[in-house]
Amino acid sequence: MTKFVVTGGNRLQGCVRISGSKNSTLALMFAAALGKDDVVLTNIPLNSDVKTVAEILKSIGVRVDFEGQSVIINGKDITNHQPPYELVRRIRASIYTVGLLLGRLGLADVAMPGGDEIGTRPVDLHMRGFQTLGAEVSIEHGQMVCKSLGLRGATYYVNKVSVGATINMMLAAALAEGTTIIDNPAKEPEVVDCAILLNSMGAKIRGAGTASIKIEGVQSLHGCEHTPIPDRIEAGTFMIAAAATGGDVQVSNVITEHLRMVISKLRETGAEIIEGDNDIRVISNHRLKTVDVDTGVYPGFATDLQAPFGVLLSQAEGTGIICETVFDNRFRYIDELRRMGADIKVERDTAIFRGVERLSGAPVVATDIRAGVALVIAGMMAEGVTEVSGISHIERGYERFDEKLKDLGADLARVSESLEEVKA
Ligand code: EPZ
Repeated sequence: MTKFVVTGGNRLQGCVRISGSKNSTLALMFAAALGKDDVVLTNIPLNSDVKTVAEILKSIGVRVDFEGQSVIINGKDITNHQPPYELVRRIRASIYTVGLLLGRLGLADVAMPGGDEIGTRPVDLHMRGFQTLGAEVSIEHGQMVCKSLGLRGATYYVNKVSVGATINMMLAAALAEGTTIIDNPAKEPEVVDCAILLNSMGAKIRGAGTASIKIEGVQSLHGCEHTPIPDRIEAGTFMIAAAATGGDVQVSNVITEHLRMVISKLRETGAEIIEGDNDIRVISNHRLKTVDVDTGVYPGFATDLQAPFGVLLSQAEGTGIICETVFDNRFRYIDELRRMGADIKVERDTAIFRGVERLSGAPVVATDIRAGVALVIAGMMAEGVTEVSGISHIERGYERFDEKLKDLGADLARVSESLEEVKA
């Protein structure tokens, strides 16, 4: 068990290169296994969620070989329709095993997924989607059991915008007979990235990123090489960290169009943002102003950046309001932030931040990936020392997070629970 010990007060300065998108890569790895040839994914982030997906895929017969920052995936020998519970429960993205197995074997018996404790995370939209394609779907003893003698294309209007249900439908429908239409799909860049990979493998998917996706089923898929999009959430995290610490940071390898809302909200706080072609410079040298933020589906303000942005607001001037509209339990970091002196009131899906002059360091616990990075940012802003435990959450989604921050001048050490430093 390790924790981060953060000494506050340093401005972040320099350049940070953003890794490939975690959430894209997780979906892309399942999509890659739909075919029977090698699919090479390059510049992937080597975080622990990616390694868990590799284990899940291997458990059902997929060949997964890592080579540096690349992974080669071959789904030719998929035979097992029951991945082990111990693996599936670790991450939410394990639900993509169902779309993959239904598409390839017409049979899936997969435990209900685990993942972050950020609210109730039902799977009804996934189940209804598979049923629309003709599968028999039931929940038996905590397992989602799906059977089909051959999926058939159909039109599915998704009641609530869901990234996971949209991607799962694309996986299941890519090899189905006939045409599938997904109305009201998620428009997130990770959905588009997954459609691009599937099309490079020979699928026929049109409209990803718009209000309707059309999938003409094909008989088989072939190999290809693909690079995931840069991680817009990692990029947003470093942009917020730069602004919150009064820093001057060039965030490189980004797609600026994916970051419109965070750019706009940071500008409203008074931070200076200079946009390049593939990079963004964030400069802040005075106390920021609070702003109001509603999270929402893309292109709205990403729920995954809500906690880091809340931390920024906790020390800004004035009163700012965050309304979390996507998940119902994503304010858990606020209890920890209060222990650092923040003045925040929570009423259901709304948090009211009264900015304080300065947070003060304290021992805090990360409860999910984004809460974890938010608390590290809080530690960098605070006076004194903050110990962030539960950092395995951070490592699920961020590659070399501590090293990247240290390269920018953060005073941060990785230490064992016994406070013995294990890494400088
Ligand atoms: C993806 O989760 C991401 N995870 C999340 O990132 C991200 O916060 C979320 O999309 C929203 O952008 C991965 O890509 C692995 P949803 P997902 O289905 O697909 C409700 C992170 O920190 N819903 O779009 O699970 C659901 O409860 C993670 O990297 C249903 O009601 O999210 C939520 O309120 C955390 N029924 C809303 O839809 C369903 O069957 C959106 O969820 C499915 C979802």
